[in-house]
Amino acid sequence: MEKASISRRKFLKNLGLAGAGVLMASSPWLSAFAESDKTSRYKVKIGIIGPGSRGQFLMSFLTKNPKADIVALCDIYQPSIDEALKLAPKARVYRDYRALLDDPNVDAVVITTPLDRHYEMAMAALDAGKDLFCEKTLCYTLAQCYEVYQKHISTGRILFVGQQRLFDPRYITVMKMIHDGTFGSINAIRAYWYRNNNWRREAPPELDELRNWRLYKQHSKGLMTELACHQLQTGTWALRQIPNKVMGHGAITYWKDGRTVYDNISCIYVFDSGVKMTYDSVISNKFYGLEEKILGSKGTVEPEKGKYYFEETEPAAAFVRLINDIEHDIFDAVPFAGTSWEPESANENKGEYILGKSPKEDGTSLMLEAFVEAVISQKQPERVTEEAYYSSALSLLGHQALEEERVVTFPDEYKLNYLNHVHNPILK
Ligand SMILES: NC(=O)c1ccc[n+]([C@@H]2O[C@H](COP(=O)([O-])OP(=O)(O)OC[C@H]3O[C@@H](n4cnc5c(N)ncnc54)[C@H](O)[C@@H]3O)[C@@H](O)[C@H]2O)c1
Repeated sequence: MEKASISRRKFLKNLGLAGAGVLMASSPWLSAFAESDKTSRYKVKIGIIGPGSRGQFLMSFLTKNPKADIVALCDIYQPSIDEALKLAPKARVYRDYRALLDDPNVDAVVITTPLDRHYEMAMAALDAGKDLFCEKTLCYTLAQCYEVYQKHISTGRILFVGQQRLFDPRYITVMKMIHDGTFGSINAIRAYWYRNNNWRREAPPELDELRNWRLYKQHSKGLMTELACHQLQTGTWALRQIPNKVMGHGAITYWKDGRTVYDNISCIYVFDSGVKMTYDSVISNKFYGLEEKILGSKGTVEPEKGKYYFEETEPAAAFVRLINDIEHDIFDAVPFAGTSWEPESANENKGEYILGKSPKEDGTSLMLEAFVEAVISQKQPERVTEEAYYSSALSLLGHQALEEERVVTFPDEYKLNYLNHVHNPILK
């Protein structure tokens, strides 16, 4: 109990504010912490379906939460079970997820299986009356995402999707600043994720598909569902709108090793106002890393770096710069008429830290803590699932645009009603 309240206090302190209340207009799901019942001694009994790499990472936080108890595990790959049992030695082990869902001792389920498994497992979990934390991307198709969302509404069970940036203190803080107009009008977002590795796990041929599910289209939509999903969310969160159109191109340009998902993608998402969010990802060069550059008329935000920059640092006047260049022997002679244009050199402004240079907290532990609180209070935090639904939808629609090489429009039948009620203070 003590540990949980310390981490929450530290979280709020990190935000540099007296409480989460100020931030709730921008991030209403923080209500999960406000709803927490400090007197409750109830431990949520959790079952993990697919405790592989991500599942074990989530377990490492859940095992530290005094309000959670991992009571069941289900996997079809013995090494995953063996590793997971080291974290939760008392958990019951199941081979079939339906048997885990039949276990009346399980209150809530965490699904961390490959993407193509999510739909049937999520539907079954909600039908079985379990509260659910499902890793992103929510499902393999948009229609499936919509069905799971509707099932969450009709069953009234808690649903969280693993979009941890929603709980990342840097993002929460900077989104509040964006919504307050600190950076002016946001007119462009440039998101990218660059890596340089093959994404492949060593595996014998008979286990290749199970271990390397990310590389094959029948299980995954590659970079769009594995990476882009997190970053596209930045656009809807910052602009409080969903883009209505997406176009793009995908190819396998480097890792020609039998995989069927693209290793090189670019998409342009277009909001109704004409504002655009671009998304690029390659996994054969990591120089630029990952970022979502949010470009406003008064400033720029780089939440991954944890910094923002105001536009006010004026570029040096062309004439002053020319003299400077001469002093540095760049030119042999002064051109007679000087420049007639202002060079658009990049801003050298070093910027400000959003939350100081504090150690990076990516939101995962707080998101899990919020999930446990929501299960105990049985109160679904506002918009936490809708934000995640749209991230999944945008990554899937982007993938469709790449596959079909055409402009894809967000289908009206898959829009959620709640967005109609959200006032947009930025785009008038
Ligand atoms: N939020 C994040 O930042 C983040 C990061 C990494 C992964 N993920 C997501 O987590 C999920 C899992 O990714 P991962 O890297 O842990 O994959 P993984 O391959 O390491 O783990 C998946 C596990 O599911 C098991 N599994 C497969 N089919 C099963 C079945 N029918 N029944 C029970 N178990 C089954 C596998 O044996 C494996 O142990 C994916 O949806 C992925 O997108 C999210």
